[in-house]
Amino acid sequence: MEKEKMIYEGKAKKVYSTNDADKVIVEYKDDATAFDGEKKGQITEKGRLNAKISTILFELLEDNGIPTHLIEKINETDVLVKKLDIILVEVVMRNVAAGSLAKRLGLEEGTRLNKPVLEFYYKDDDLGDPMINRYHVYAEELATKKQLDQISKLAFKINDILVEFLADKGIDLIDFKLEFGTDNKGKIYLGDEISPDTCRFWDTKTQKKLDKDRFRRDLGEVEGAYHEIVRRLEK
Ligand code: C5P
Repeated sequence: MEKEKMIYEGKAKKVYSTNDADKVIVEYKDDATAFDGEKKGQITEKGRLNAKISTILFELLEDNGIPTHLIEKINETDVLVKKLDIILVEVVMRNVAAGSLAKRLGLEEGTRLNKPVLEFYYKDDDLGDPMINRYHVYAEELATKKQLDQISKLAFKINDILVEFLADKGIDLIDFKLEFGTDNKGKIYLGDEISPDTCRFWDTKTQKKLDKDRFRRDLGEVEGAYHEIVRRLEK
């Protein structure tokens, strides 16, 4: 299937229409942004590496009964996916305190949470994706209760699948962000990507960060971290 028109350009991906109205092609870019686009840069080969990582993880989830938008990877940076209407509620799942949660609750980064934590954020770049709760979702009609319940259940299940798979590769899944959408029949699918751009991955033994925090916090060895994740997932 071939790209037709670019219908959307985001911070890390471009989306193209195809000759099938129900399918789009996602092209992963090397561009990297952080802090609501305030920090900009490029991570060499990130597009190729994230396309690979995300495809491996989406295939794993499909194999474990999670409906995802993935159809097939068509080349190094491009993935054919089902066209979805994205639900404007981002779901963050956390196993260990880091980033904004560590700050909000005054926890030391790396503190294991007694239970996984699910959070909702309003997907709105201009507002900087603020955290919201169920009642904001209903008040703004971002999703129905039924959709939110289904998304939450899927998010916990996805967390269990990923934690187990990654543990075997020597990777601690600290936290990650998910996006969901509906097809033209209203069925919910997991969309977007799962990659070091959207997850915190720490080496189990050394707790070294193997994700976009290396770019956000100027820790160096950014490309190396993305390569290391690919190497371990392909193991
Ligand atoms: O910044 P914060 O600690 O809230 O991020 C939690 C998780 O969600 C991190 O893994 C981060 O990479 C991801 N995230 C994301 N996109 C956002 C916000 C957070 O992928 N807009």
